[in-house]
Amino acid sequence: MEHLEGKVAVVTGAASGIGLALARAWAGAGMRLALADIEEEPLAKAAAELQGLGAEVLTSITDVRDWRAVDAFAAATFDRFGGAHVVCNNAGVHLSDTAWQFDPERFKWVLDINLLGVAYGIRAFVPKMIEQGEGHVVNTASAAGLVTGPTMASYFASKHGVVALTESLANDLALAGHAGVGVTVICPEYVATRIHQSARLTPPGVEVERDETATLTRQMFDDAVEGGIDPSVVAEQVVAAVRENRFWVLPHDTTLDLARTRWRKIDEGKPPFLWG
Ligand SMILES: NC(=O)c1ccc[n+]([C@@H]2O[C@H](COP(=O)([O-])OP(=O)(O)OC[C@H]3O[C@@H](n4cnc5c(N)ncnc54)[C@H](O)[C@@H]3O)[C@@H](O)[C@H]2O)c1
Repeated sequence: MEHLEGKVAVVTGAASGIGLALARAWAGAGMRLALADIEEEPLAKAAAELQGLGAEVLTSITDVRDWRAVDAFAAATFDRFGGAHVVCNNAGVHLSDTAWQFDPERFKWVLDINLLGVAYGIRAFVPKMIEQGEGHVVNTASAAGLVTGPTMASYFASKHGVVALTESLANDLALAGHAGVGVTVICPEYVATRIHQSARLTPPGVEVERDETATLTRQMFDDAVEGGIDPSVVAEQVVAAVRENRFWVLPHDTTLDLARTRWRKIDEGKPPFLWG
């Protein structure tokens, strides 16, 4: 999609971090915005900022875990703007855990948002894009969707799922001959956002206490996020990828080598430890 001006950009998780940077970037390209999040005040603040930049903005308090709510958000977007052109399934959370020691509700919460939320966004918006004959889906995965490591079992599982789901979407669209709908997956390493404060969002019944092993790496994770690249760097690369119809966005130079190392281990029949 080379021409973005006047078209409609949809972003979930738009109140903070990468989602907010994407919304700013789409506004900068002259697009109208449909923004969803579960954090009411930050979303209202984001909308006010973007309206101040001259963008037309629809906001919706939508929990992406709920497919009916995602459908309603899509319907509200079509009602207001008549369509949707760039759809960014971006909302996501992170909590540390190990593969054998976790609260089931917490593990499910991460998977419901990070993976099923993306699937529900695709389901709600892509039929309209096919009907329009043009559009672009942008799914936020992570470098954690290409490699693995310790103390983030639910996160790694969810993000590998997002990469697989996005590849499936591209395959299915190509097979069905819907060449007008492009697909991009974003796989950043650390980005300076509020992802390390995801515990702020846990609903009642989701246990945020961390197990001992995960606690060991907790400070490292917080420091890495805080020292991460600016979300605007990711957003800039996404805008270019949508304009050029590129599938992969790997904003860090190091990610491809990490992925190659994983594949070398697979090739050599070795265990998946990146440090070994
Ligand atoms: N920050 C990083 O280092 C990093 C790296 C790779 C990938 N990512 C991914 O980027 C995406 C955006 O995260 P971020 O880093 O900007 O974090 P963030 O916490 O700053 O922003 C995430 C936004 O998603 C919203 N959200 C959470 N649960 C939601 C739900 N159920 N329904 C709707 N909105 C919800 C939050 O309220 C928040 O506004 C996530 O998918 C994350 O996994 C982040």
